[in-house]
Amino acid sequence: MSAQKRTCLAIVLAAGEGKRMRSARPKVLHELAGRSLLAHVLTTVAAAGAERVALVVAPGHDSVVKEARSLAPDIEVFVQSPALGTAHAVLAAKPAIAHGYDDILVAFADTPLVQPETFARLRGALTEEGRAVAVLGFRASNPRGYGRLIQDSETLVAIREDRDLRAEEAEITFCNAGLMAIAGATALSLLESIDCSNAQGEYYLTDIVAAARQRGHGAIAVEAPEDEVLGINDRAQLSVAEQVFQNRLKIRAMQSGVTFIDPSRVTLSYDTQFGQDVLVEPDVFFGREVKVGDGVTIRAFSHLVGAEIGPNSIIGPFARLRPGAKLAEDVHVGNFVEVKASTLGAGVKANHLAYIGDATIGAKTNIGAGVITCNYDGFGKFRTEVGAGVFVGVNSALVAPVKIGDGAYIGTGSVITDDVAPDALALARSRQVEKPSWAKDFRTKHRKT
Ligand code: UD1
Ligand code: MG
Repeated sequence: MSAQKRTCLAIVLAAGEGKRMRSARPKVLHELAGRSLLAHVLTTVAAAGAERVALVVAPGHDSVVKEARSLAPDIEVFVQSPALGTAHAVLAAKPAIAHGYDDILVAFADTPLVQPETFARLRGALTEEGRAVAVLGFRASNPRGYGRLIQDSETLVAIREDRDLRAEEAEITFCNAGLMAIAGATALSLLESIDCSNAQGEYYLTDIVAAARQRGHGAIAVEAPEDEVLGINDRAQLSVAEQVFQNRLKIRAMQSGVTFIDPSRVTLSYDTQFGQDVLVEPDVFFGREVKVGDGVTIRAFSHLVGAEIGPNSIIGPFARLRPGAKLAEDVHVGNFVEVKASTLGAGVKANHLAYIGDATIGAKTNIGAGVITCNYDGFGKFRTEVGAGVFVGVNSALVAPVKIGDGAYIGTGSVITDDVAPDALALARSRQVEKPSWAKDFRTKHRKT
């Protein structure tokens, strides 16, 4: 049977304590490029063809279950209590395994960088007649702490945990990444044969290799690059994984036509979308759900989240686009301008020091320096509607709810509280008063005293 047609259950282990994160948040909910470690792993196993997913969690980790269900509503959740080792964790999902699948994939929720193709290779290795287990291995730059893969030429004979190593095995650098594919037909009987007679008194999933061999089944190691199998136990490893993932995202973006002047100084989100011929200057942060059109330039020190940027727009330097900012083509949003939940039509310019919140701005409208939409009265949010071709003079406050008609002109420094008709000039400021010679007299008076 081809690997594609085989049925597959993925068991994602997430019941470890994660103490080294020193966090009130469960480890697998910490994020990589704007998305939880758990979400990365769930997406990957689905892409590797797992049609069912079983998640093994610690008691009380409702937030982990909630995150999993938000991505995979029909995920099966099993609670492992107490945590007696990785084999014990896999067996917590026994009812799922018992449904019967061709392949069982075991993934760790704290190992988020594995690529779908790598899981697919593990599954592919099971198609060999008589093979019961395919284990993911890597050449470790420092093998301490990892289980070692004990091989007899090409075949995998056993996995030995670091603490249980025999003297002659200490030199082995081919290590167990922890992840594996198990043939469904023999999975339960092999898993149930594992005991806990080892240095830690735990049920080791790794013992499945020796168990398979004892029963005359085959086992094999499939190699992956070390940076793909990085497991996250603490925040230092989280930052290393973030760098690896960021590099992947940037290489993909550059291959699709994005120029980064210094890729190491840009942070992307797992879902950032770019058109062609985009230029991103250094020190730009992309949060979730940002879409950038063709020919856009994003200048230094801009912070973008949940924004859509139309073709040929120029953003920044020092611009802030918040969720719901929808910019059409040729829009300029310049330094110290913040846009939130607002639609800006084609050719809108807001080049300096403005706040545009809960607004619709028509095409070719010019928003002067220091213009503020007053959208919030401490209780409710209100909308500002500005038509096309409007000129909003500098330092004006648009007090929402308010509408400004097409082609209108707002005099500098106005506080606009009433709607403005199309093509009208609205001035809402006190007239200038001039007192001739006042300043000179004032100075003279003070000099005398
Ligand atoms: C495991 C492997 C080791 C491998 C290493 C790679 C075993 C026995 N050892 O060791 O060979 O080199 O990963 O990083 O498998 N978990 C549970 N319940 C438990 C125990 C663990 O759900 O009772 C989960 C953890 O949340 C984690 C994963 O299983 O996602 C791995 O557990 P961990 O304790 O990190 O295993 P290691 O000792 O690192
Ligand atoms: Mg570990």
